Amino acid sequence: MTFKPAKWPRKLRSQEWFGGTSKDAIYHRSWMKNQGLPADLLDGRPVIGICNTWSELTPCNAHLRDLAERVKFGVYEAGGFPVEFPVFSPAESSLRPTAMMYRNLCAMDVEEAIRGKSMDGVVLLAGCDKTTPALLMGAASVDLPAIVVSGGPMLNGHFRGERVGSGTHLWKFSEAVRAGEMTAEEFVEAEASMSRSPGSCNTMGTASTMASMAEALGMALSGNAAIPAVDSRRRVAAHMTGRRIVQMVKDDLKPSDIMTKDAFENAIRTNGAIGGSTNAVVHLLAVAGRVGVDLTLDDWDRCGRDVPTILNLMPSGKYLMEEFFYAGGLPVVIKHLGDSGLLHKDALTVSGGSIWDEVKGVKNWNEDVILPVEKALAASGGIAVLRGNLAPKGAVLKPSAATESLMVHKGRAVVFEDIDDYKARIDDEDLDIDETCVMVLKNCGPRGYPGMAEVGNMGLPPKILRKGITDMVRISDARMSGTAFGTVVLHTSPEAAVGGPLAVVQSGDMIELDVPNRKLHLDISDAELAKRLDAWKVENSGANPRPDGGYAQLYHDRVLGADTGADFDFLVGCRGNAVGKEAH
Ligand code: FES
Repeated sequence: MTFKPAKWPRKLRSQEWFGGTSKDAIYHRSWMKNQGLPADLLDGRPVIGICNTWSELTPCNAHLRDLAERVKFGVYEAGGFPVEFPVFSPAESSLRPTAMMYRNLCAMDVEEAIRGKSMDGVVLLAGCDKTTPALLMGAASVDLPAIVVSGGPMLNGHFRGERVGSGTHLWKFSEAVRAGEMTAEEFVEAEASMSRSPGSCNTMGTASTMASMAEALGMALSGNAAIPAVDSRRRVAAHMTGRRIVQMVKDDLKPSDIMTKDAFENAIRTNGAIGGSTNAVVHLLAVAGRVGVDLTLDDWDRCGRDVPTILNLMPSGKYLMEEFFYAGGLPVVIKHLGDSGLLHKDALTVSGGSIWDEVKGVKNWNEDVILPVEKALAASGGIAVLRGNLAPKGAVLKPSAATESLMVHKGRAVVFEDIDDYKARIDDEDLDIDETCVMVLKNCGPRGYPGMAEVGNMGLPPKILRKGITDMVRISDARMSGTAFGTVVLHTSPEAAVGGPLAVVQSGDMIELDVPNRKLHLDISDAELAKRLDAWKVENSGANPRPDGGYAQLYHDRVLGADTGADFDFLVGCRGNAVGKEAH
């Protein structure tokens, strides 16, 4: 931790717009004053942007305007001037074809809004899955002082005496309906039970994972991740964040000071300890790319191997975010990592101090929620990175959500050329498949779908579900919802739509999965594999054709592989906050 605060007072960036008596300064101030601002708000005090992903079409973030007001209280108290602005809001639950296709669009919006507008620092208001990484990516590429406030999770779901979690029970109930164990009417009755309050998914899905990643990276106040959306303390956290960002601007404490390689390693280990979503892999790789940190898939495997999953939350365990908060929240998990020698204790956070200073005094208030190591859900909870002739650039699997007996498995491939092929055939009683087979799904990667849909946890055929079997090995270039579970190999790279080896797997091939040895092998000769790859042509492959314009075409043409974070090639890196002069 080598951060040295800048000298204060000094001239701020916002004074490039508002300072002086030139025609341009008067132009900028005059128009701002149409909002009824006293003159001294633009006198050189820190101007704090509040970047808001509020939207009524992103229900997980629909309460963020309220939190923005609380941030403003804190900014005013600390002597700053808050200005709220909207950005594109990708909603996981409803955006088509995938919210992931729009993560980069949101990140571009965030980056250009922060750079082009008259602010000195920014509070990032996020919640739903893609909003957190998008805001971190955009802010990292500008590198003005920035801090995250998460919207917080929904309250626990309850249905007929059972605790039900967002997403996780959607998959479970859906499988129960397909197996004939639940009626369609009961399924509909359960839908409101899962979403009882404002907030993001209440499982350790991608939203809770990314809120935890923001905190573990040091980019949010300690304790931010787990506070329920409707708990009064969520408002307090927003208020305190407003106070804090003003001081961060005075100190010139930037994302590049905080998001170092050590911070990313802390986040990766935290992800293992909480049984976090596999989506964190692509998102942290993308954020690291923006801030110029050399983070790779191998770092995920290396840092995660020794980390037991100690958080007993769905989808890996049984509780929900509300209980996590009552047990002490993420600071308890981070303290556990520190006590186990698995934390870079000196890593700097938005507090201006070290991460260890933030957590060293906390206590675990419920050892059935945050488990002692000897009761860990998985001894090696990190993300396993698999390689082999089927995934030369890597694939990922989440051991804590997988079935132990399937971690070493060899089976006959049953191939679905794309998601439509899967949907058309999976319920066919004549499908040639049994529980020892390996289900393979192609053309669902970043370019193939597009946006890398969360369909990797393909539902099993009804005839197998009826036997009481709930898991099989599944392989694809897709992602999986953080709320899902199963022995599911994801993000297989290179993806099928660019001619990766996944594209040439045929039904009947044998596939070997060996998680302990990190191996994913297509059991055909090198010569046969080369012959098939030579014959592969995109136009015959089942991949979606290139979109004929608009953002979808830009996405198709410029998205990078999942193995490096699926950012756009031209967005990788930090471009700073300098902005050209305007002319009036
Ligand atoms: Fe928005 Fe889960 S769908 S947080």
